[in-house]
Amino acid sequence: MCGIVGAIAARPVSEILLEGLRRLEYRGYDSAGMTVWDGSQIKRLRRAGKVQALGDALAETPLDGQLGIAHTRWATHGKPTENNAHPHMSGARLAVVHNGIIENYESLKRDLVARGYEFTSDTDTEVIAHLLDSAISSGASVLDAVRDCVAQLHGAFALGVMHQDYPGELITARKGSPLVIGVGIGENFIGSDPLALLQVTDRFIYLEEGDVARLRRLGIEIWNSAGESVERPVLRFEHGSGSVDKGEYKHYMLKEIYEQPRVVHAAMEGRLGAERVLEEAFGVTAPAIFDQVRQVQIVACGTSYHAGLIAKYWIEDLAGIPCMVEVASEFRYRKVVLPKGTLFISISQSGETADTLAALREVRDRILASLTICNVPGSSLVRESDLCLMTNAGPEIGVASTKAFTTQLVALLMTTLVLGRRHELTPETEARIVADLKTLPGLLEQVLGLDSAIEKMAEAFAEKQHALFLGRGTLNPVAMEGALKLKEISYIHAEAYAAGELKHGPLALVDKDMPVVTVAPRNEMLDKLKANLQEVRARGGELFVFAGSRQEVQPEEGVQVLELPPMPGILEPIVYTLPLQLLSYHVAVLKGTDVDQPRNLAKSVTVE
Ligand code: AGP
Repeated sequence: MCGIVGAIAARPVSEILLEGLRRLEYRGYDSAGMTVWDGSQIKRLRRAGKVQALGDALAETPLDGQLGIAHTRWATHGKPTENNAHPHMSGARLAVVHNGIIENYESLKRDLVARGYEFTSDTDTEVIAHLLDSAISSGASVLDAVRDCVAQLHGAFALGVMHQDYPGELITARKGSPLVIGVGIGENFIGSDPLALLQVTDRFIYLEEGDVARLRRLGIEIWNSAGESVERPVLRFEHGSGSVDKGEYKHYMLKEIYEQPRVVHAAMEGRLGAERVLEEAFGVTAPAIFDQVRQVQIVACGTSYHAGLIAKYWIEDLAGIPCMVEVASEFRYRKVVLPKGTLFISISQSGETADTLAALREVRDRILASLTICNVPGSSLVRESDLCLMTNAGPEIGVASTKAFTTQLVALLMTTLVLGRRHELTPETEARIVADLKTLPGLLEQVLGLDSAIEKMAEAFAEKQHALFLGRGTLNPVAMEGALKLKEISYIHAEAYAAGELKHGPLALVDKDMPVVTVAPRNEMLDKLKANLQEVRARGGELFVFAGSRQEVQPEEGVQVLELPPMPGILEPIVYTLPLQLLSYHVAVLKGTDVDQPRNLAKSVTVE
């Protein structure tokens, strides 16, 4: 997804901007560019491809100046070419960077063309540059031009704007796309997220929907969507800046997989009493809201959706209340019936996923309350939900979500317990699950000990084109998540099925070239799952089984078995996720793909 960095300082800014872009690479992009005011004119450099290409260009043609904006573009309108890369300019005096989508750009463009503006790109962003120029040519200041312009835009945007006649000002605005202001000493910055700016500050202002701001070296002024001057709090960034380094690991994804014992602990810290979940963690208004909950609607995308599917099993089984789960991109566009007493739960690592946010906005007036399970403090979902439970996983840089997923599951299990105690859950069962949760970090450590065996297992996949993942019960969504991980980072086509569905179709695909991965803990579904595995073996399919017991699932020719430690059944979907993450990781490394930034994908999907 597009990334924005901007700076106004008393020192050269181009290296700061470039480093900011590097730190935003995890969001996914296909071109990069920057403009800097050099004291007499705005100079621009843009490159298709990686930020490194822009860095190389900058080494050859340095941009020297104290005001600048920069951008990584993830193509939505027009190909990923240098011409379409941001910043976009209107003439030589004004430059703009934009994250988001302008839905009415075609009509705006027609109007601008009729007034003589020539377009040099295929982007929606260029209309913003020309709209600004048009207002400034009519006598508006750059600030007023931005205000005037955003009032005409439909869609989502975060903007950074600089103008030659206003070399002491950096103007920014946001609506529907994320943007933070980094507060420095004698210098100020903008960025799509704090990570881009942790190199220069740890103090941030999170702009609200519709805000416009003017940054000078020595001051920041903000106006809300009604044009009123407003103060926004300056917050200190909560995650340690060291957590964005790869450290000793070859990839962020591997680092994040290995962080899981620590971060699941962080997700529980301060939230578990001796025998119960402390519901104060959800906020002061939470108990009164939870008292009225009669059913739950979960909405999320991708990996976060899989977490929601697991939570459905927990909520219906332990709390005994109905729970619906749906992907946000479908939910937001259909007529949804929401009975009285519905708690709407959104799940999102980033807190900025456009579809999830839109779903929340769609139902806000028809629900009892909204709760978000989220990893990014200050993100849009956190700000717009009635309640939030932060997952505390720390920044997740790898596009493939790992630690965000397992901490979401911890948060969802804690949510199940606070809801359940108002319905069917007994204090004894809650106390048992709380005790179980406390064993989770140790169990995850043990599973990480299987890493080299999983790395060996991965060799069997490197040459394959397809793979099938099977699970039952709460392990069915785990199989779905395993298949998503494999396809997104290794580009192997992978599908997941509830094992009982095998004979209803997918069995036709099984032959010696189709590895079948199965998560098979020792639980009440194991006998049924074993029967499904026999169906695979009988068709010559090669099985890779993560099992609770080698006695129950024995290794043989064509059946590789890795035994996981014994564990409480409630923790199985969390713990069995780890070996599937490691399997995908090692397959991707063997295939030589870009593990942390897989092709065509973005970390934070802030457009529809
Ligand atoms: C997972 O590996 C993906 N990168 C993707 O499915 C992701 O989970 C999805 O885009 C939702 O993102 P969110 O959790 O930030 O809302």
